[in-house]
Amino acid sequence: MMMQDRLNVIKEKALREHIPIIMEDTLEVIKRILKENKPQKILEIGTAVGYSAICFSEFLSQEGYIDTIERNEDMLTQARQNIKELGLENKINIYSGDAVDVLPTLNKKYDMVFIDAAKSKYPFFLQESLRMLNKGRNYLCR
Ligand SMILES: C[S@@+](CC[C@H](N)C(=O)[O-])C[C@H]1O[C@@H](n2cnc3c(N)ncnc32)[C@H](O)[C@@H]1O
Repeated sequence: MMMQDRLNVIKEKALREHIPIIMEDTLEVIKRILKENKPQKILEIGTAVGYSAICFSEFLSQEGYIDTIERNEDMLTQARQNIKELGLENKINIYSGDAVDVLPTLNKKYDMVFIDAAKSKYPFFLQESLRMLNKGRNYLCR
């Protein structure tokens, strides 16, 4: 199955199951930012089934990758399966666990951070993201 067809299947299933994946209008805005800024290393907080990470991965350079954090076991299983089916295991790396615990263990630099998880923790997620964000780069919160 082609990438776009597979993405549509993932999206339709997620919508049927009321999983709050990124919507088309937001995705279009982020795709524009990705095209303009060409981030190599992206951090995502809130993987769900991997839909947004898979969409972003199209814009990565050869050496680029996405680290994404998810705590829900069912989401993790689906995300791993979707990423594997598309052969993106070397582009999208999943950290399983609560981002509150995972983020302090990371000491990397990112060119973009996409925060899309439990809203009550956003101040902490933002603080941790800013610690790892390269100068002049973007963070996006949904
Ligand atoms: C809005 S969905 C993510 C959608 C995904 N970014 C997409 O657009 O395809 C939010 C996800 O974040 C996860 N999540 C919420 N709070 C979290 C936390 N503190 N640590 C890790 N994952 C969290 C939820 O389990 C859920 O799967």
